[in-house]
Amino acid sequence: MTEVTGPAAPGTPPPGCPAHGDAVRLGGLEYQQTPFELYRDLRGRYGSVAPVLLDGDVPAWLVLGYSEVSYVTAHDELFARDSRRWNQWDRIPADWPLLPFVGYQPSVLFTEGAEHRRRAGVITEALEGVDQFELGRECVHIADQLIASFSGRGTAELMSAYTHPLAMRAAVHMVGMPAGTADTEALVEDLRMSLDTAEGDDPVAAYGRVGERVHRLVTERRARPAADVTSRMLEHPAGLTDEEIVQDLISVIAAAQQPTANWICNTLRLLLTDERFALNVSGGRLSVGQALNEVLWLDTPTQNFIGRWAVRDTQLGGRHIRAGDCLVLGLAAANSDPQIWPGAEVGSENSAHLSFSNGEHRCPYPAPLLADVIARTAVETLLERLPDLVLAVDPKELTWRPSVWMRGLTALPVQFTPVAQ
Ligand code: HEM
Repeated sequence: MTEVTGPAAPGTPPPGCPAHGDAVRLGGLEYQQTPFELYRDLRGRYGSVAPVLLDGDVPAWLVLGYSEVSYVTAHDELFARDSRRWNQWDRIPADWPLLPFVGYQPSVLFTEGAEHRRRAGVITEALEGVDQFELGRECVHIADQLIASFSGRGTAELMSAYTHPLAMRAAVHMVGMPAGTADTEALVEDLRMSLDTAEGDDPVAAYGRVGERVHRLVTERRARPAADVTSRMLEHPAGLTDEEIVQDLISVIAAAQQPTANWICNTLRLLLTDERFALNVSGGRLSVGQALNEVLWLDTPTQNFIGRWAVRDTQLGGRHIRAGDCLVLGLAAANSDPQIWPGAEVGSENSAHLSFSNGEHRCPYPAPLLADVIARTAVETLLERLPDLVLAVDPKELTWRPSVWMRGLTALPVQFTPVAQ
């Protein structure tokens, strides 16, 4: 975290903008290793709504309070989702790193009002048709295939070998890409390159190929419907166009993959590092379900979500918000808000956290349940197949990715007794 003080730099917005005066930069490794401390510090200095600077010192508000995040997300007539409202577009360069998340796309993510209800309604009903038992069985199958690829070695790095590919394969299975084909494998790899770019990848070209493949899937399902999310979206009486369905399917896959993969990873980390979850006397591990829920309170995958844009001038948490200002939803900060944990430790058996957000644009109703099936199956299958699995490094050596947005580890190295192939 870097505090910005001193005379205004050229191009600094006028008083009243979040960048004015003492806004803090949201980047940096320090932030990601100890986010609770940052939130506590920000709360102490600014209250429930803090002025922050995004990449390139672009100003925004970080909403830290549980009731303020609930309020913003519940009032989409005041804090809306279409990023074209932003009053900072003239400062945003073409290669701005957050553009993939903030740049307007004609998908469900950026629609508002009646049009959003139409698009989200189709997704909700299509996801409701997913058979959770069949999804669980498919996840066991995917898990077994991935485990088989490293179980003979006795060591693995689970982020790249397990959690990310499993969440991706589960997502493309739900939309109807047949398992194990070269086409599906290519889609999985292109999605990885677009969502989680590594050195040497060309994310723009990969994203283009993702669009082409999903388009082909939509055309095929128009001709021959099947029991999958894509076919149910096509059959829905709302009558979405093929283009709208392609956009929304890509949003569904992308919205599912990263958070679910990191939910699995963060839960495995908790199980492998916290003695409360160690092997109990009867040889079983204490509640994977408890660990999954605790992670949503303490290490939620979508830490901060960008965002909402103010429809008109208004007030929030004692701050003057101007029309077109950007608000970042501080979901992790809201979950640890001392107002909802007076004198108590954060983390609970209840699920009143804001990890799936809230209101009109929240993670659509069946999606959290499906994510739970995927994550729970991934964790349980791994622990069943490799029962003496332990960390291959000291817990202190595990590092968090230097991202303000998604909380996940850089790597999760483990070791276990090799399984004879
Ligand atoms: C099967 C897995 C999942 C699917 C299919 C899915 C799907 C979606 C979709 C379609 C949206 C866009 C909603 C809209 O704009 O109307 C969304 C939003 C969101 N999802 Fe999920 N999701 C999944 C898993 C998760 C997980 C594991 C988390 C975090 C723990 C998560 C957190 C969120 C958040 C924070 C939003 C943003 C909501 C907002 O704008 O307020 N999702 N998800």
